[in-house]
Amino acid sequence: MRSLDDALREAADAVGEALESLVPAPEGADGRLVEAMRYSLFAGGKRLRPFLVLSGADLFEVPRAWSVNTAAAIEMVHTYSLVHDDLPAMDDDDLRRGKPTCHIAFDEATAILVGDSLLTLAFEAVTTPAGHPDAAVRAEIACALARAAGADGMAGGQAIDLAAESRDLTLDEVITLQRLKTGALFGFACEAGAILAREDGTARAALRDYAACIGLAFQIADDLLDHEGTEADLGKAVGKDAAAGKATFVGLLGADEARRRAEALADDAIAALSAFDEKAAPLRAVARYIVERRH
Ligand code: IPE
Ligand code: IPE
Ligand code: MG
Ligand code: MG
Ligand code: MG
Repeated sequence: MRSLDDALREAADAVGEALESLVPAPEGADGRLVEAMRYSLFAGGKRLRPFLVLSGADLFEVPRAWSVNTAAAIEMVHTYSLVHDDLPAMDDDDLRRGKPTCHIAFDEATAILVGDSLLTLAFEAVTTPAGHPDAAVRAEIACALARAAGADGMAGGQAIDLAAESRDLTLDEVITLQRLKTGALFGFACEAGAILAREDGTARAALRDYAACIGLAFQIADDLLDHEGTEADLGKAVGKDAAAGKATFVGLLGADEARRRAEALADDAIAALSAFDEKAAPLRAVARYIVERRH
């Protein structure tokens, strides 16, 4: 297999191209909203969720033209979630992806509309024939993405995250919070390829198990990086979780135990892929990367 770095770069390039055509540079004077969408989309995210979509789809030899469309959609939903997460009413952050946050570079109303527009464009993208020739498959992708992003997924997790600033959570409650806030979109990313391939058997179930492990591991790593990373590496402020009284594994268990759990989850994720051959090598490699990353 080529190196994970190369594979990540290749996925980022492919999704970047798809996003360019979905959100082209605006012409004329009325383009401020689209400019702001592009500002946040092309600020240099890791494109991890698109990588998972493409790598999962490659297991079933799904044509890239379809999987890249879904990959672009999830990156738009993720970017929307970050733009709103940074708003003063939520985490009130000034720096994201190494640049001033959307509401600082533009204004709050524009940042809210950027989120609205990216979320809705994501659904437009997956429901056009470019996403899959079979309308039933497109509908299933749209439905799964909606569930992952909404009140039973990411948005619901964000609500618990904010409520937890004024109340202590148990470990089980933190796990539930993180499964929703971050895990739901990871779940969609990992299963999307199976949906596009109309694969509904054990392979899809294995990807669901893999996703549950890496989703949680990813958020534990994010919390660890907030605790001990640097602003220069991360491109966002650090030390914010403790200051805001956020409920995290690190806060409840300490950094060493949190890291141990993240590593164990990466092992479990890799074990969940045991039935796949070499085609799953990128998914195995990224499970390690998720807990070892410095940004
Ligand atoms: C950050 O996600 C937000 C969380 C869900 C913890 P990423 O670390 O994937 O952010 P980008 O896309 O690389 O900026
Ligand atoms: C944000 O979690 C998760 C979503 C946007 C859904 P965090 O608040 O921990 O993300 P960062 O640390 O600001 O990137
Ligand atoms: Mg947050
Ligand atoms: Mg935040
Ligand atoms: Mg964080």
